[in-house]
Amino acid sequence: MSTSKSSSLASPPSPPRSVNSVLVLFLVVLLALISVGLFALVGNGPSSRVELASLWKLRVAFVGSRAAAALSALRPSDLPRAIESPWPPIYSEEKQVAFAPASAAENEILTEQPEPDEMVAVKEPVKVVKRYSRLEKLEASLSRARSAIREAALVRNLTSVHADADYVPWGPIYRNPNAFHRSYLEMEKLFKIYVYQEGEPPMFHDGPCKNIYSTEGRFIHEMERGGNPYRTTDPDEALVYFLPFSVVMLVQYLYEPGSHETHAIGRAVVDYIDVVAAKHPFWNRSLGADHFMLSCHDWGPRASSYVPNLFSKSIRVLCNANTSEGFDPFKDASLPEINLKTGEISGLLGGPSPSQRSILAFFAGRLHGHIRYLLLQEWKDRKDPDVRVYDQLPRGTSYESMLRQSRYCLCPSGYEVASPRIVEAIYAECVPVLISDGYVPPFSDVLNWKAFSVQVQVKDIPNIKRILMGISQSQYLRMQRRVKQVQRHFVANGPPRRYDVFHMTVHSIWLRRLNIRITDSA
Ligand SMILES: *[C@@H]1O[C@H](CO)[C@@H](O)[C@H](O)[C@H]1NC(C)=O
Ligand SMILES: *[C@@H]1O[C@H](CO)[C@@H](O)[C@H](O)[C@H]1NC(C)=O
Ligand SMILES: *[C@@H]1O[C@H](CO)[C@@H](O)[C@H](O)[C@H]1NC(C)=O
Repeated sequence: MSTSKSSSLASPPSPPRSVNSVLVLFLVVLLALISVGLFALVGNGPSSRVELASLWKLRVAFVGSRAAAALSALRPSDLPRAIESPWPPIYSEEKQVAFAPASAAENEILTEQPEPDEMVAVKEPVKVVKRYSRLEKLEASLSRARSAIREAALVRNLTSVHADADYVPWGPIYRNPNAFHRSYLEMEKLFKIYVYQEGEPPMFHDGPCKNIYSTEGRFIHEMERGGNPYRTTDPDEALVYFLPFSVVMLVQYLYEPGSHETHAIGRAVVDYIDVVAAKHPFWNRSLGADHFMLSCHDWGPRASSYVPNLFSKSIRVLCNANTSEGFDPFKDASLPEINLKTGEISGLLGGPSPSQRSILAFFAGRLHGHIRYLLLQEWKDRKDPDVRVYDQLPRGTSYESMLRQSRYCLCPSGYEVASPRIVEAIYAECVPVLISDGYVPPFSDVLNWKAFSVQVQVKDIPNIKRILMGISQSQYLRMQRRVKQVQRHFVANGPPRRYDVFHMTVHSIWLRRLNIRITDSA
């Protein structure tokens, strides 16, 4: 493979013209095939066939009926002409198979792809001068990144082969540590984000940096910050475009409490997209497919629904990653909810070793939504010494110390699917137990959640104790170790550090951009 890669740098002799056009057609089809799903990270897990099959089941379980409808709505015929049609059937088994090693033939043809770096290609005898647009060059760089990631994905021995001073992803917490590492490095090299300047704070370019919506504000602030490594001020150089509105702020300023009326919020989003679509060529070029919004508010999905293309084509980075509300893991990304009560993370990280954790399972929280209702109903009054479930903690008991004394921390969905408890548990080095329906956990495109968390179905709430007691001590110790390893990906550093929650969020967006190909409209 490395030989074919290097030979791609040499320009091949031009074949006769008729052969040439057939070849070009062939290349277009192949490229479309390749651009389907840089879910290569998913497909090529470091896993046996059996593992793959069960991963696949897990992913299918994520897809609720509404999401399935949204997916089928994304038929290639629906897409603007400017976008090639790399869209699903990513959820079908055949597509998973297509992520298998690229065949030698495919690689051979890829090497004959004209290199846009040669600005001008002169073809005999007609002397056609072809100028590649900046977009074509960007797309070519993405296609090289895809190949590099696919190549890395083939190294299945769990040890990343790329040296990295900060951190090298390894082990079963990743679906494919090598593919992830390569993808991360390619992102650092290539990814550029343009932030639209339109709009005034506080509803635009600002957001909350404390409490449960902190990931929304912190991301927006980070993107606004000068010196952010991904940000570009040249929109022609960008691979994605950020729509910097804060749903939390829109709610704060435009929502009349108790009215259940979100039209004013929707209006603001519609107006904003109208403005950027009128002033810049980028939205119309892709109908929003290379644009992203980000929100941790429950109403993130609802706010996006006022602009049909924002809902169904743009990348939506959401805490409320509920597949029953149209969250589509192929194009949308799940954002962790992190409750930063003081805005600081100091003091939140770490916990005692497993031997010092005397409680089997712990939860404390109010009755929000039907899953918590079932949990409290079932466990609150049992006063089981192993499964401690409270709607109100006994006086004198500290919530944080309960997290640290527990082996497993229960993380049921509340009014919406995401729960800040997942990251709380990871910070306190308590193995999270996800109890949810239709929730896509953060970074599931690269993380193998089954390796460091337990997922309990809502119908199994009465069996929680049996399920957790059924996990062997050695398996628990492995999971707890992996929770410590995965922690770095959820830490909200200020300023961000490589591989932390900010960079992982950007990486989610990068992967979704790799899944599509944009072309200049004719
Ligand atoms: C994993 O594979 C790579 C490339 O095939 C090799 O260089 C490396 O030594 C292997 N690591 C282990 C632990 O086998
Ligand atoms: C994009 O499309 C909209 C609606 O069709 C149109 O009003 C707008 O002028 C277009 N923007 C540009 C930059 O051409
Ligand atoms: C997910 O969305 C569906 C459909 O809107 C809703 O009925 C369900 O309650 C949501 N889940 C949670 C936990 O909010």
